[in-house]
Amino acid sequence: MSEPLGTEPYKGVRDFYPEEWARLQSVFANVRNTLRLYGYEEYNASPLERAELYESKTSEEIVNEQTYTFTDRGDRRVTLRPEMTPTLARMVAAKRRELIFPLRWFSIPNVFRYERPQRGRLREHYQVNVDLIGTTEGAEREMIRLVSGVMKSFNAEDADYVIRINSRTLMNSAAKAVGLTEEETKDYLGLLDRKNKMPAEKFEEAREAFSKGEMDPLALILARTNKDVDAEYESLLSLIATCKSEGIENVIFDPTVVRGFLYYTGLVFEVFDTDPENPRALMGGGRYDGLVSLFGGESVPAIGFAFGDVTLIDFLTTHNYLPRASSAPHLFLGTPSKEDLPRAEALAHLLRRARISVLVYTGTKGLGDQIKEASKRGIQYFAAVGESEDTSQSVKLKHLESGEERVITYSALGAEVRS
Ligand code: HAM
Repeated sequence: MSEPLGTEPYKGVRDFYPEEWARLQSVFANVRNTLRLYGYEEYNASPLERAELYESKTSEEIVNEQTYTFTDRGDRRVTLRPEMTPTLARMVAAKRRELIFPLRWFSIPNVFRYERPQRGRLREHYQVNVDLIGTTEGAEREMIRLVSGVMKSFNAEDADYVIRINSRTLMNSAAKAVGLTEEETKDYLGLLDRKNKMPAEKFEEAREAFSKGEMDPLALILARTNKDVDAEYESLLSLIATCKSEGIENVIFDPTVVRGFLYYTGLVFEVFDTDPENPRALMGGGRYDGLVSLFGGESVPAIGFAFGDVTLIDFLTTHNYLPRASSAPHLFLGTPSKEDLPRAEALAHLLRRARISVLVYTGTKGLGDQIKEASKRGIQYFAAVGESEDTSQSVKLKHLESGEERVITYSALGAEVRS
């Protein structure tokens, strides 16, 4: 006989048993409700995309090292989406004449990246994407407001996380003012990106190589001696001040937030948990004005961000904000004997019409064991349905957590269980 098949999922991906799926869906329900409050509408697309979509302007690291790409039976190169932004840009470009701009859209796709699985990073995750396309008016502010709105909807406080902002325009104009070539600018941004992973002295030493004249780009920004660079920096500071005036106190300027994608053109930002338990970015995004026009036509202003379920659940767990969720039915209808099954089914039918979820017991255990099973399944209420119940058209409804029991008529049962 051959070895039995292994039951573990593929490396870096998860199975969601009903309880875990219910928990994730309740987190997403909260996210959906919050985003709708801001006028955002949900869209979706297939996880399969033509491979070229990622090869022109996303991220070298993602394309070369992290995509799942294969050739299909018709010789087409196909990629499992590693992110949603290129798909979104494609969808917008395809209907740019029909859509009513600005678009406020969100989506919760599963995305795939061949990464080393570790805390906060897997090979498949669900990623909430929130994007505002077709206007620049107040767009940066709106993004920060959304980040904060989503976090606050879970009861998170400003001290629990920090929103680190920077700007590609600022960094590029500072690099230009210092006299860095394009290649040097790329290296410099790479150095900033690695800053938090190296000893402080080493970082300072490496910075010197980029100091043409007196200063490297970062020193130039902070010195405030160059008009163009200052104007860019001022606009970031003013964004921080506006957020503060709206009661969002945890936005800071952080020149080490560079972001890996090539398509960003302006503001870039990342959200981090302040608890060192969760060191990976919780959210990330920025402005990407050139992506839609890759498909032809004029450029369309676009800005957005995304956050994954893995890091969000870690954050909510660490800070004790994870909502309770259950996929269990409302009511367990017990059957004293096999003959009572039709009675229980008839009552269940009535209750389901009143939108009460019901599980009817079909086994052979005694009532005591049925009650135990109902508890184990996480069901809130139990009632047994036998001949005498049918005659009186009432049941003894038991609330399993408190143990409380009350006699309730069939007609009042739905309202009682729902409350
Ligand atoms: P990103 O920074 O690559 O941005 O990903 C955004 C978020 O997705 C991360 O902050 C993290 O929460 C989650 N995430 C990313 N990779 C993984 C992984 N391997 N495992 C678990 N979670 C992960 C983007 O993808 C941009 N497309 C976001 C965007 C939308 N920019 C504009 N609009």
